Amino acid sequence: MQTRCATAVACPNIAFVKYWGNRDDELRLPANGSISMNLAGLETRTSVAFDAALERDAFTLQGIPQTGEALARVSAHLDLLRARGDSAWKAKAASESNFPAGAGIASSAAGFAALTVAAAAALGLNLSARELSILARRGSGSASRSIPHGFVEWYAADRDEDSFAESIAPPDHWPLVDLIAVVDAGHKKVGSAEGNRLARTSPYQEARVMDAPRRLLLCRRAVIGRDFATLAMLIEEEARMMHQVMRTSTPPLDYLEDSTRDLMRSIPQWRAGGLPAAFTLDAGPNVHCICPENAAPEAERRLREQPGVRRILIGRPGPGARVVAVDGAGNGRAP
Ligand code: PMV
Repeated sequence: MQTRCATAVACPNIAFVKYWGNRDDELRLPANGSISMNLAGLETRTSVAFDAALERDAFTLQGIPQTGEALARVSAHLDLLRARGDSAWKAKAASESNFPAGAGIASSAAGFAALTVAAAAALGLNLSARELSILARRGSGSASRSIPHGFVEWYAADRDEDSFAESIAPPDHWPLVDLIAVVDAGHKKVGSAEGNRLARTSPYQEARVMDAPRRLLLCRRAVIGRDFATLAMLIEEEARMMHQVMRTSTPPLDYLEDSTRDLMRSIPQWRAGGLPAAFTLDAGPNVHCICPENAAPEAERRLREQPGVRRILIGRPGPGARVVAVDGAGNGRAP
């Protein structure tokens, strides 16, 4: 039997400075750079088995076989890796996460990071972290940031080979906690890939992108210097700016729920009252409450008391994407 398989694990990440909108949709070259933290505790595990006998790719998500767009997107990503590995073998990919997909918890980031790393290992490709980040970016922009470990910056650039993510600090640099208040675990109406294409239709997008170098500098300094007060103001500003662009796109995108807005009011009030905590949002209604480890128990207690909060997921600065198993016979290359 000619098969070759590998399994990889990746964490999602939460952006402090947001990626929203591309300068090149096809290559997923972002309009601006971004900075994030990987989220240990949340995890996607993906296995890819290239098999000489398969006629087409197959993909299961949480054990459910996928068709249509979801399968096509995975298959297109596998094509990029097959091209790198000079292979024509089709593959079976299976992905499992311990958090809900498509609800503003960057499921595509962890998913495409794990898929990239597993497929590269299965094909026997010896790629650098930079090359893996570039490839992951093509599957989902934010996936580029789930390749390196800890606190990560993804660079905006005009060329494919220059837009990748790198670690700016390891996971143990700063014990922050992301308390993800799940207000709605349903699948979002407009996915972030589509939303990213609409960003340029908002008149606010240009201002957001032009001002990005200032925010990136502030954020980089706040992370390196463990300056929570600056980080708190910055991430809330980022979240408001991104959702302003979304709301003013054509067609407009409104991902927020009433409970999201309540939390966007409460968390800054908690901070004003002395509890170091700040919110940020992804392309969904769930609220990421970021706080230092020592404030997490109190922040979690308050979040649980908020109406509409159904569940709290917890992430801490996490590792990068990694291979956990490689096996099979053959080399995954076309005979
Ligand atoms: O890469 P995507 O399609 O998951 O885009 C997600 C973008 C945001 O999560 C909304 C922001 C970010 O930088 O992660």
